[in-house]
Amino acid sequence: MSSEGRSKVITTQRLIEMKQHGEKIAMLTAYDYTMARIIDDAGIDAVLVGDSAANVMAGHESTLPITLDQMIYHAQSVVRAVKNPIVIVDLPFGSYQGNSKEAVYSAIRIMKESEADAVKIEGGKEIIESVNRILSAGIPVMGHLGLTPQSIHKFGTYSVRAKEEAEAQKLIEDAHLLEEAGCFGIVLEKIPAKLGAQVAQELKIPIIGIGAGNSVDGQVLVSHDMLGLNNEFSPRFLRRYGNMYENMKEAFSRYVNDVKNGDFPSDKEQY
Ligand code: KIV
Repeated sequence: MSSEGRSKVITTQRLIEMKQHGEKIAMLTAYDYTMARIIDDAGIDAVLVGDSAANVMAGHESTLPITLDQMIYHAQSVVRAVKNPIVIVDLPFGSYQGNSKEAVYSAIRIMKESEADAVKIEGGKEIIESVNRILSAGIPVMGHLGLTPQSIHKFGTYSVRAKEEAEAQKLIEDAHLLEEAGCFGIVLEKIPAKLGAQVAQELKIPIIGIGAGNSVDGQVLVSHDMLGLNNEFSPRFLRRYGNMYENMKEAFSRYVNDVKNGDFPSDKEQY
């Protein structure tokens, strides 16, 4: 499907209205055409082309190695697939931290080459100049605070963030800063539910949580994790809606057996 064919039911404005009306926002990640089509058909509001593609698609330990070109490739595949949801694309590590000029250049490449709807960027005060510059180019920006996986080498662990007062206070200040700059929403990752609730209550823009409790304005999960495609990753915030690892393994094993036994193809499956 060309991007002209997208009906664009969900816009950044619509997400803000959903918050105003108390309508929860459902967001999932997608990195490829097939998965994005299924997610769209399921009625999702927002699709995140996350840099978690580095983990679940490419097998890296962190999100750091994925490149801007690779993010654009994933975003193009997703945009081609979806009609209704807004498509938000992560700016990868190294594409915006250097300086704000590089940040706007990276965001423009994503918007121009993938025809996605918005970008997401990790951090608060330290990257606000980049946020301002991207916004001034007319590109909608979603923030991301709390556990920001691109800073894993600074944090040292993937444990819950902002449990201490000082870090919680900085997170609240950063959230206000991002809202004042003009961001249309913020992802809060792996923080105490009480803090998530406070930020959602204080801000007018939607707060989408992943491990941030149930009093935020919406939720996001990595699709591969919620489908149970990876049995080794089981943080407390993750609810599994499938056991796709076992389902797929069973299907692949049956195929291997059928080929080895000479049962596939049957008479009806040949010309
Ligand atoms: O890259 C990603 O999938 C994300 C989500 C965890 C929010 O940023």
